[in-house]
Amino acid sequence: MRDFHDDDLDQAIQLWDQNGMDGRAVPVFPLSEVIAAVRTGEPAVVAAVGDELVGMAVARADGERAWVLVLALAAGWRQRGIGSDLLAELERRLRASGVRRISALLPAEATGTAALRNYGYRPRDGLVYFETLDHLPAADAGLLDALGGRVLPGGLWGSVAGMEREKEIVERRIVLPLKETELVEQYGVVPPKAVILFGPPGTGKTSFAKAVASRLGWPFVELFPSRLAAAGGPAGLAAALREAFADIGALESVVLFIDEVEEIASERSGVAADPGHMVTNELLKLIPGFRAHDEHLMVCATNSVRSLDPAFLRPGRFDYLLPIGPPDATARAAIWQRYLGRAADSVDLARLVEASELFTPADIEYAARKGSQAAFEREVAHRRGEPAATEDYLTAISEIRPTLTDQMISEFHEDMERYTRM
Ligand SMILES: Nc1ncnc2c1ncn2[C@@H]1O[C@H](COP(=O)(O)OP(=O)(O)O)[C@@H](O)[C@H]1O
Ligand SMILES: [Mg+2]
Repeated sequence: MRDFHDDDLDQAIQLWDQNGMDGRAVPVFPLSEVIAAVRTGEPAVVAAVGDELVGMAVARADGERAWVLVLALAAGWRQRGIGSDLLAELERRLRASGVRRISALLPAEATGTAALRNYGYRPRDGLVYFETLDHLPAADAGLLDALGGRVLPGGLWGSVAGMEREKEIVERRIVLPLKETELVEQYGVVPPKAVILFGPPGTGKTSFAKAVASRLGWPFVELFPSRLAAAGGPAGLAAALREAFADIGALESVVLFIDEVEEIASERSGVAADPGHMVTNELLKLIPGFRAHDEHLMVCATNSVRSLDPAFLRPGRFDYLLPIGPPDATARAAIWQRYLGRAADSVDLARLVEASELFTPADIEYAARKGSQAAFEREVAHRRGEPAATEDYLTAISEIRPTLTDQMISEFHEDMERYTRM
């Protein structure tokens, strides 16, 4: 029994591999964590017979608590008390540094479990091991940063209130086929690579794109055509677009979002020298390359699907064209409820829903803030213990011009008929 030396690393890795082979479950602490612990001087002991490493035990201490990261024995050297000796050595080092509680978390079948039992460690029943993994490999972090992208928090899906129809379609057509990879294969489903969300402004297209990234746990990168354009002229923009796609292509997984895609994909005038022509063509050329990657999803949003170049909409480029429409009464009620918070208890929701007919979710969010602020200010001034009232919000509604018009809604219905692909 002795301390781990740097020269032991190769044999330690072999030992690790051997140990992994007979335990079917994946160890909780991966090899990289074990090596990192050893490198930073955490307690690590080995059992050696001559030059051969036949066992190792590594722990990580944190105050009074330590975790056994690995307890491994070479195949021919089990059931001989080496495991107990390793634990004794490990414990001695840990106790000397003030550790009082030592835990180990191992796959049920792992060799180490027998050694722990023999040495008097008691298994605890009734525990469940949870984990969540950041999807982003270390190598992608720098690139993602350079692209202005990030991993979004979980739970954004839940913050999209109402919109049940849209949610269901997005869930079934986009999220599930990208998440349920085994079933997808079994049933021959082709998961989407690129989709378009269309609908009037403020209906939640951006929110849906982010919610999808949040559900998948993939990083979210937004491409801003207007910023790329700063690179100088249409030729510059086309080149910048190419470069951005090359960078994005190097990410292991990504939701690429292009808002107001009509800016770079509007109908070409037919004049070859038309500057927009060049950029639209470039984007058309880039899509097949983007589609070649697994775990890459492009989401384009537009308020004006009818102005998109028809070549862009041809099958083979985008899997789905999904309408994200104005919220109906049920959706408006859910959105009001979400933004009213506790104030929802003291207002007549039905009246707010009725009064906000041409409101988008974004308009409702704004009206709810405004109404709540007014009620709050009144209370601060008078301290009458009056809750927010329906009138507060009706006033706010009357002061806001709704985004939607009857014409927009009828155009949206025409677009839905004509362009929806799901
Ligand atoms: N279903 C919804 N529930 C709650 N808030 C929403 C919903 N849809 C949109 N919003 C809010 O409205 C604002 C604008 O939404 P956004 O997704 O940017 O719309 P779009 O991209 O269609 O213009 C955001 O602040 C968002 O939080
Ligand atoms: Mg948007």
